[in-house]
Amino acid sequence: MVNQRRPDGSLRHLITLDGLARPELEKLLQRAQGYVCLPGSQPRMNQRLAGITIGNLFTEPSTRTRVSFELAGRRLGAEVVNLEVQLSSQMKGETMLDTIRTLESLHFDMFVIRDSQAGVVAHVADNVAAHVSVLSAGEAHVSHPTQGLLDALTVLQHKGERFDRLTLAVVGDIRHSRVARSAYEAFTGLGIGELRLIAPEGLMPQPGEFPRGVRFSTPEDGLQGCDIVMMLRIQKERMQAAAIPDGGDYFQHFGLDRRRLQLAKPDAIVMHPQPMNRGIEIDDEVADGRQSVIRDQVRNGVAVRMAVLEQVARPRPLRA
Ligand code: NCD
Repeated sequence: MVNQRRPDGSLRHLITLDGLARPELEKLLQRAQGYVCLPGSQPRMNQRLAGITIGNLFTEPSTRTRVSFELAGRRLGAEVVNLEVQLSSQMKGETMLDTIRTLESLHFDMFVIRDSQAGVVAHVADNVAAHVSVLSAGEAHVSHPTQGLLDALTVLQHKGERFDRLTLAVVGDIRHSRVARSAYEAFTGLGIGELRLIAPEGLMPQPGEFPRGVRFSTPEDGLQGCDIVMMLRIQKERMQAAAIPDGGDYFQHFGLDRRRLQLAKPDAIVMHPQPMNRGIEIDDEVADGRQSVIRDQVRNGVAVRMAVLEQVARPRPLRA
């Protein structure tokens, strides 16, 4: 298990939500809620991270996560540098750790890392200088902690604090999904009433994973009466070509359309971490419909990342 805490117990890195106690999760969500910026209003800014330099290192594609980590840092007064890994020396064979060491010499204080290989983020965290923090922006199929938090914040805003009264259905490629794993940690940590896993057999997690999840082999069985429907993208990049399901066939059996959504509660909300494959896991009518909170998830991403950056940051003396 990753040690992401300082000796005094405070959070130094954020690599997984596993091990975060409920009050700690609630505190982060509360702090994030204070940073939520409603459409049409001006974002809240402050200087709490003034003097801090943050490096975004993404070796996998990203739109929302990278942009929102960048905005989060800037809105707290930090300096943010995006490293285009395709253009960096990693393409010449430099290891991630050598890149990190270089950036440490340039006085970086925090690294936000997305990587397709499990364990890389924790390996960096174990090897950085004592004042440096490392935040996961998505690690292979394993973990995407800020996504888990922004999903929880979105549910909190729409359904209130009584998570114990809610049923969450996660639908799709759960086996390869870091979003599903971090959602599981966030929502079980916050005491969700029921958590259902709906997937074709080949996309179900391995036995033993998601121990509290109740497994269903069709949306027709699993969506009945649920409060939250979380759709997932098929993670083609983490599959052998032969295992990738045919899009049309997949939509027919697992795609979310109005007819299937009607099985959930009338006020159920629909979530998707994006990028969406419209017509494969979800249709336009539902993705853009009145029950969709997908755009709220994006908006909450900045607020949650501000809360996390602020939480891990430690004031330190000015450098000479
Ligand atoms: C997801 C990711 O990269 O894990 N996107 C995101 O961060 N919002 C989901 C995905 O790629 O399907």
